[in-house]
Amino acid sequence: MKQQREEFSETSFYTNHEQRFGAVPLNQLKAELHGTVLCYPGTNLQTFSSRKSQLRKLGVSEIYFEGDSKVGNLGVAGKGCVSVVLKARIKGLSEVVALKCRRIDANRESMLRDYELQKYANSFGVGPRAIAASNDFFAMEFIDGLKIGKWYEKLRTRTSKRFLRRLIRDSLTQCLLLDLHSLDHGELSNPTKHIMIIRDAKRGELIPKTVIIDYESAGRDRKVSNLTSVAQFFFLSGYKSKKIQKILGFRYNKKKLISLLKEYKNKPEPERLEEILHYVRC
Ligand SMILES: Nc1ncnc2c1ncn2[C@@H]1O[C@H](COP(=O)(O)OP(=O)(O)O)[C@@H](O)[C@H]1O
Ligand SMILES: [Mg+2]
Repeated sequence: MKQQREEFSETSFYTNHEQRFGAVPLNQLKAELHGTVLCYPGTNLQTFSSRKSQLRKLGVSEIYFEGDSKVGNLGVAGKGCVSVVLKARIKGLSEVVALKCRRIDANRESMLRDYELQKYANSFGVGPRAIAASNDFFAMEFIDGLKIGKWYEKLRTRTSKRFLRRLIRDSLTQCLLLDLHSLDHGELSNPTKHIMIIRDAKRGELIPKTVIIDYESAGRDRKVSNLTSVAQFFFLSGYKSKKIQKILGFRYNKKKLISLLKEYKNKPEPERLEEILHYVRC
C-alpha cells in the first residue's frame, strides 16, 4: 500500500493504462485497485465480481473516484456507517448520480430497504430522487451542496436574515411532509450530516433550499419526530441557537417555543408549523 502511494504524483494519473483517479469505466474496475472502495473496507474482496455484475445490471457506465473523503489513495463523495458514496454515470442519464455502495461491515443485508423508503419520500417530494438499486448498490440523484452541520459551524451573525428564514422554513416544511406521511427519518435528532443545503449550479453559491438525505434508519411504523428534532437543532441547541436569534433579530421564549412544539407533536398539521414559524419570525 505504502509503495502504491509513492508511485503516484499529481501528474501521473495512469499506470499500465489503468486509470486510478477520476472516471473509471466499468470494464476497467479492478479488485486490487478499486476493491477497497467497492467492497469497503477492502479486507474481503470475495464479493467484488458479484458487485461488478450488479453495477452492470444497474446500467452504471463509469465511476468517479474523487471527492472530499478519502479511502486510501482514492477519493469518494462521502462515507457513512453503512455505505461509501461515489459519483457515477448511468447509461441513458445525462447527469451524474450518487452511488451508495453497501459496506462489507454494514449491519444491513441490503440497500433495497433504503431505496424503497427513499422512493416513498420521493412520492411526496422529499429526498434525492431514487433511481435504481440492487442488493449492494443504490443510485440516486447527486446533490451538490453543503451539509447543514458544516454550514452551522461557520454561521456568522452577519448572515442574511432572509437566507436564514427561508432555510429554516424550507427544512421544517420538508420535515412536516415526512411527519404527515408517517415516515420517521430516524437520524434527525442530529441532522448535521443529513440535511444538505443546495448549491446553485451556475454560481456555486448556497441557496436556501435543502434536501434531507439517507433513509437507511427511517421507518414507517413508529412515532415521528422529524420536525421537532430539526426545530430543536435550530432553536434550542444553546450557543448556536443564540446566533440564530441574533440573526432573526428576535429573542424567543424557550418555554413558549417548547409548548408550540408540543402542540405540533400532538397534532402535526401545517397550521401548527405556521404558528411555530410565525412565532420565531420566519
Ligand atoms: N444523494 C447524495 N448526493 C451527494 N452526496 C451524498 C448523497 N447521499 C449521500 N451523500 C454523501 O455520502 C455520505 C454518506 O451517505 P449516507 O446516506 O449518510 O450513508 P450511510 O447510510 O452509510 O450513513 C453523506 O454524508 C454525504 O456526504
Ligand atoms: Mg448516514
